[in-house]
Amino acid sequence: MKIINENIIIINCGSQYTQLIARRLREVKIHSLILNWDATAERIKSFSPKGIIISGGPDSVNDPDSVKVDPGIFEIGCPVLGICYGMQTMAKILGGNVVAGRAREYGVTNISKAGGNSVILSENIPDSCRVLMSHADNVAELPEGFKVTSLTDCGIIASMEDTERKFFGLQFHPEVVNTEFGYYILNNFAFNACKCSGDWKLSDWVESTIDSIRESVGKSKVVCGLSGGVDSSVSAVLVQKAIGDNLQCVFVNHGLMRLNEPESVMKEYESLGLNVKYVDASERFLRELDGVTNPEEKRKIIGRLFIEVFEAEAKKIDGAEWLLQGTIYPDVIESGTKKGSALIKSHHNVGGLPEKMNLKLLEPLRDLFKDEVRQLGKLIGMPDEIIQRQPFPGPGLAVRCLGAITKERLDTLREADAIFREELKRAGLYAGIWQAFCVLLPVKSVGVMGDSRTYNEAVVLRAIHSQDAMTAEWSRIDYDVLDRVSKRICNEVKGINRVVMDVTSKPPATIEWE
Ligand code: XMP
Repeated sequence: MKIINENIIIINCGSQYTQLIARRLREVKIHSLILNWDATAERIKSFSPKGIIISGGPDSVNDPDSVKVDPGIFEIGCPVLGICYGMQTMAKILGGNVVAGRAREYGVTNISKAGGNSVILSENIPDSCRVLMSHADNVAELPEGFKVTSLTDCGIIASMEDTERKFFGLQFHPEVVNTEFGYYILNNFAFNACKCSGDWKLSDWVESTIDSIRESVGKSKVVCGLSGGVDSSVSAVLVQKAIGDNLQCVFVNHGLMRLNEPESVMKEYESLGLNVKYVDASERFLRELDGVTNPEEKRKIIGRLFIEVFEAEAKKIDGAEWLLQGTIYPDVIESGTKKGSALIKSHHNVGGLPEKMNLKLLEPLRDLFKDEVRQLGKLIGMPDEIIQRQPFPGPGLAVRCLGAITKERLDTLREADAIFREELKRAGLYAGIWQAFCVLLPVKSVGVMGDSRTYNEAVVLRAIHSQDAMTAEWSRIDYDVLDRVSKRICNEVKGINRVVMDVTSKPPATIEWE
């Protein structure tokens, strides 16, 4: 495996923002490696780091059960940045004092520079700015050799620094967008303190990931459930580059795809040379969904059936030892697997499969965000039709066809949805929208068509902008475009006589209706 020497080691003490630090560094072309809090100083040193970042975390350093990083980290001889819990642990290890804060400054608060020049708060950082704090403890007494470099409005130490030894502490999170100038603070640490040169490339990541997949998988076979989506497709092409035809993909058509989607997806996979088996299980899915209206029940039935169908196919593949999944970082949070994040919806994935089938899990994109996966897809030569495809939920149209699911209602939804997307493309808007789709409501209203009364269901237009699907803003679409969509749907789609627009962001709504 190729060793990338220029790196920053991030010690993860349990913060939900740790991956964001790595992402911010990737944005300025710096490679980082995340290690768990119990990594020994010896192990960290073996990576020849240019710098170390100790992340935040939910613990209190004064709690005997809190996570304890190796004090040897401060002997390695490279710059260290402690963020939030990381700053508190740095202070405690080096002889300072940490107390439970009285004026709990949670959330966005103001800090002002103090104490003269600072290596990481100087370049591009104004005298005062807004930052995100999310910990009740704070440093009350500095360790020897440190100075205060900024204070909150309540007088709490917001940052500290030992310029000589290049140790830095931030009580707030520079990696989140809510912290103004946080991006520059991380840059100052990486470039001014650690002297990184910033010449890491995504192609380095591809090379080392392919090497490590090859190394772990060896000559055994990997199975992959392809969905047509960006994440599973990019993972498959990446793994195919590593192990060729020892990757065997299965594409299950559950009958809940959009208009002509199964056919066009299969064509694209064939053109990429992927080894894919097509399984049409649509009748079985529709049979088992018959009469089901509860959203969670729908999701669970689809999840279970998917596993059954996929498992039956995968069992036919001799010597399969691995299951490839296109998990990306927001999925890890959305599915509630990170400590402290609540389950909003039972996301459809094949999560139950690895244990059930005794398969080892391969998730090469687990640390990446969607836009990075798209960049990666482009880099490994995938066509825009796949990498620019909008996210589509695993349970497909089932969660957009509210009420009971029938073949007729799905076809109605498919036609309306195709018209909406076609008109957005024609107006040049589709590529700039994160997701645009129709939802079919089980609600009938009265209309008039020609001289006749109609009594039909309604379709909702849903279009949103987002960065990572964790929050979303409804898209303001030109009225003339909406008018064309509405007229075409009512004229062309049998069974629809009313078109409405969803103008709710996330939160409070979710992107999908179920
Ligand atoms: P929500 O509706 O929770 O959706 O705001 C967030 C993002 O996830 C997609 N989504 C899913 N993706 N399996 C998936 O792979 C699912 O079960 C699922 N449910 C929602 C949704 O389209 C949006 O992009």
